[in-house]
Amino acid sequence: MKKLVLPLVLFILSGCYYDSEEALFGKPGTGACDTSVTKFSTQVKPILSSYCLTCHSNANAAGSGAGIKLENYADVKIYVDNGKLVGSIEHTSSFPMPKGGGTLSVCDISIINAWITKGALND
Ligand code: HEC
Repeated sequence: MKKLVLPLVLFILSGCYYDSEEALFGKPGTGACDTSVTKFSTQVKPILSSYCLTCHSNANAAGSGAGIKLENYADVKIYVDNGKLVGSIEHTSSFPMPKGGGTLSVCDISIINAWITKGALND
C-alpha cells in the first residue's frame, strides 16, 4: 500500500506544477501569449487598465498614484522613455508595480516589452 503513495504524490505535484506553468506562459502551441500584435489601444492599455489605473488613472493619480498618470498615451510614453515603466513591472526598480499586488503575468510583461521594442507607438 505504501508503495502507491509516493508516485501518487509526485503525480499530483507535477500536475500542479504544469498547471501553474500554463497559467504563467500560456498553453504551449495555442498562441495564448501572442506578442506579434502589440498595439497600445488593444493590448497595452487594457493591461494598464486592469492592473494600474486604480491608482494611476487621471482621476486617481493625485490621491493614490503619487501623481503618476498612466491613462493616456502621452503620459504612459513619459514612463516608457525614462525606463520607469519597464523597471516597475519587471521589479528591477525601487518601486515594484502593481504596488502591493504581486507581478504582472510573464505574458503581459512580454506584450508591453514587445510594444516598446517596436517603438512604443500610439497605435
Ligand atoms: C495601489 C496603487 C498602485 C497601483 C495598483 C499601481 N501603482 Fe504604480 N505607483 C503607486 C505609487 C503610490 C507610486 C509612488 C512610489 C511608491 O510609493 O511606491 C507609484 C509609482 C509608479 C511608477 C514610478 C516609479 C519610479 O521609479 O519612479 C511607475 C512607472 C508606476 N507606478 C507604474 C505602475 C504600473 C505599470 C502599474 C500597473 C502594473 C502600477 N504602477 C500600479 C501606486 C500604484
